Amino acid sequence: MNQTEATIIQAWPKSAAAYERARASLGGGVSTGLRASARPHPIFFDRGEGGLLFDVDGNEYIDYVLGWGPNILGHGNPALVAAVSEQITKGATYGSGHELEYLAAEALLTAYPDLDRVLWSNTGTEADLSALRLARSWTGKQRIVRFAGHYHGWSDQMLVGYRPRAGRSDTKGQQSDVDEYVDVLPWGDADALAALLADRSDVAAVFLEPVLINSGVIHPPAGFLEAVRALCTTHGVVLVFDEVITGFRVALGGAVERFGVVPDLVVLAKAIAGGITLAAIVGKASIIDQVTSGTTHAGTYNGNPIALTAAVATIGQLSKEGTFERLDAAGARLADGLREVLRRAGVTGAVNQLGPVVQCTLGVERLDTFDDFLAGDQVRYGDLIVELLRRGIFTLPGGRWYLSTAHTDEHIDRTVDAFEQSLQALT
Ligand SMILES: Cc1ncc(COP(=O)(O)O)c(C=O)c1O
Repeated sequence: MNQTEATIIQAWPKSAAAYERARASLGGGVSTGLRASARPHPIFFDRGEGGLLFDVDGNEYIDYVLGWGPNILGHGNPALVAAVSEQITKGATYGSGHELEYLAAEALLTAYPDLDRVLWSNTGTEADLSALRLARSWTGKQRIVRFAGHYHGWSDQMLVGYRPRAGRSDTKGQQSDVDEYVDVLPWGDADALAALLADRSDVAAVFLEPVLINSGVIHPPAGFLEAVRALCTTHGVVLVFDEVITGFRVALGGAVERFGVVPDLVVLAKAIAGGITLAAIVGKASIIDQVTSGTTHAGTYNGNPIALTAAVATIGQLSKEGTFERLDAAGARLADGLREVLRRAGVTGAVNQLGPVVQCTLGVERLDTFDDFLAGDQVRYGDLIVELLRRGIFTLPGGRWYLSTAHTDEHIDRTVDAFEQSLQALT
């Protein structure tokens, strides 16, 4: 540890002590692996309020992590708090039917009017696996086609292709033959998909993030989603849009509403319950209804009333006139601000945006492909994150920024100033 790093660590003494203590009882000292890579160490928080977070050392931050995406309404939204508080007094989970199951499903289908049915689940990883099982049972085929750099959860088969590296498994402990079932294509290459589907008759599903959020917020090339839709229809392949990030964030009907292309199944999680654990598979009746004829869909916590009342409240809040226009404008204000600072400072970097999701990558002029994303200077960006943190801006590793309905122009302008100072501190 160098002198600067040591000084920085001393800036968060209570967080540093909490992390030390957590490491003695908690695997890796964190609840999910990636958080251990936070520099200089994970910050321990005490509470959130709107677009702000407060840590155990008494520091205030503007929050662009938003729990890694779920807190689309910010922290402590009164309608969400009221709904969850009321429900907890009536029971946490019943293990049988209750009206919120269909009220929330009806609300979801209003947002996705071209689809017919909802299955409740808990996390994006689980819901992606359910979508895969449904696709396999519906087609009677086994193979998965997906695109490099897209993330579909941490299961053995879905990790294949997230960060493709020749000759290496994606994680230790992975089933050794898992990649025999998976084809990984370059994002945006409809010709590659056409060639593959012409060649193979055993593909069950094509999975994709409609915008490649997890590796650079990279939009699909014009006509690509339409081409994939047509190819899947022609070849009898189930098309799955993984809208775990785009759902309830770029429109109430997610990327399906935004781009007007309707897949067979949509996977939702993160923002759909405003921060409470919930995921869903939304899809065509013929595919989803297989759950009554031998295709297992299970889960103790599926459709629990706390999560579903949170979903109904979140939909209510996001349905207010102008919400997504304001989220778009907030994202654009931040993206423009970061771009302008980079330009003024003469620092090479690229900024992408989709609604309230922004990606900032240093060291590349453009961010149009997964390779551009991989070419970014993550070491320098890691230093930048620490400088931002020192100035009260909490951001994700890797360059993604999430905004909520609780972020104000004043928050964003303060952030852009802090970004400028942080860049200066690096040079
Ligand atoms: C697009 C996408 N799919 C699936 C997942 C997995 O969701 P979860 O972390 O809830 O398992 C994520 C998580 O970040 C995601 O971004």
